[in-house]
Amino acid sequence: IGMKKKTEINGPLIVVSNRLPFVLQRKSDGTFVRKQSAGGLVTAVAPVVVECKGLWIGWSGTHDLDPETAIPEADPSDNAPTAGLLSKQIIPVHIDRKEFEDYYNGCCNGTIWPLFHSMPDKAVFQAHTWKAYCTVNSKFAESTLNALRSILADLDKNGKTTVTPVVWIHDYQLMVAATHIRHKCDEENLRCRLGFFLHIPFPAWDLIRLFPWDDQILQGMLAFDFVGFHIEDYCLNFIDCCCRRLGCRVDRNSMLVELAGRTIHVKALPIGIPFERFVQLAQTAPEYLKDTEKVKVIIGVDRLDYTKGLVHRIKAFERLLENHPEYLEKVSLLQISVPSRTDVQEYKQLKDEMEQLIGRINGRFSQPNWSPIRYIYGCISQEQLAALYRDAAVALVTPLRDGMNLVAKEYVACQIREPGVLILSPFAGAGGMMHEALLVNPYELDEAAKTIHRALAMPLDERELRMTQLRHREHCLDVNYWMSSCLSAMGALKTEDGDVDPL
Ligand code: G6P
Repeated sequence: IGMKKKTEINGPLIVVSNRLPFVLQRKSDGTFVRKQSAGGLVTAVAPVVVECKGLWIGWSGTHDLDPETAIPEADPSDNAPTAGLLSKQIIPVHIDRKEFEDYYNGCCNGTIWPLFHSMPDKAVFQAHTWKAYCTVNSKFAESTLNALRSILADLDKNGKTTVTPVVWIHDYQLMVAATHIRHKCDEENLRCRLGFFLHIPFPAWDLIRLFPWDDQILQGMLAFDFVGFHIEDYCLNFIDCCCRRLGCRVDRNSMLVELAGRTIHVKALPIGIPFERFVQLAQTAPEYLKDTEKVKVIIGVDRLDYTKGLVHRIKAFERLLENHPEYLEKVSLLQISVPSRTDVQEYKQLKDEMEQLIGRINGRFSQPNWSPIRYIYGCISQEQLAALYRDAAVALVTPLRDGMNLVAKEYVACQIREPGVLILSPFAGAGGMMHEALLVNPYELDEAAKTIHRALAMPLDERELRMTQLRHREHCLDVNYWMSSCLSAMGALKTEDGDVDPL
């Protein structure tokens, strides 16, 4: 593992994602500034787009941006990975409020998100939100096609007629955008390679078939040349659905799907994190848990999302305190929940449920100088996050379902002092690879409580052994490794001897 290829690509890259790689914030004078986004994906992808003079197409994150308003250039003091992206490399997609409500809160997060996380009871199926999803996907497709036409015109003008641009579309918000792009490319004879990466799970046939327009999603995904998932299970689910629903010829060993005379390549490419950046942050960040030295901290960090298993986690911690009163005043759980999709009903309910549950447990066990659960509903800085990861004795990463889960990886990256213990759910993509973590089924509260006990009592040499292995793997398979593997799989990468990788 860990053989790194040089990320040099053989043509322009057009990245398309629901969100742009930074947020636009309106200042008091009405103008906009870029506010950097902290995600690992942006860290890895933005420099490549800068390098190949590519483009990034996405929603600006605000309804206030007038279509005529120019995207601001980066502030000269900005050292974010996106700082090198010129405003002309950013193409905002404008979506009006009502359409956005149906597309984003409705179809993306009210239907596809729960269904793809195998929680169909939480999914709402409505024709008008699906229609908005298709309309918005076509808008993204139109912007992509316009960008592609002008890139091709430039390439051709400069005699680079053999260079093929790569369009790389991300995630469940844009699963049918390629239908329109493929159609127009065929009609207008535009050359490009279309790649897709799904950042969430791809569920089994039984679940996908509940979606009334499942055939359109599958056809949309098969309009790409390459489709990537985090783990093999999702690839196999997808291939199975193509076979059963669309009657495609498939090859499960080579992970190929055939549709209308085209072959679509499917591959598992597990995403990593910017490992070294987290190590650096952990090395320089001050201590935030100093006052509670005698209390061991168990940390949980998640977007406030029902897929993360937060209610189960809190109940498992309560069970630990019930069964092991020796931990009273000795251990506390620090749960950081980042607000997310706050206009969606299920998320509002979860917020209330968490607050009630935590209030009840704190009322039950708190002492004048100690509370079992500290709860933050909000965002914290990257530096503070790294320090908390570094100093926590245990990390609880127990989603009910999760595409990959980067918190597990960030925690191990920051474990640069006395090692702690990672408790991980097997239902996260990361659970299939981070074997040295303590794996526990989050639905089994007794087992989860026992596992927390085991983590808290684990001897130092065992903790060291496990953490060393975990850190080594994540260091090798970091986000840059993922990025080059994806580009290589899309046929976009120059190999070290200058050859172009075949698709
Ligand atoms: C998940 C999805 C991303 C999404 C992120 C934050 O990681 O895979 O596509 O951007 O959650 O959610 P939001 O709805 O705020 O974009």
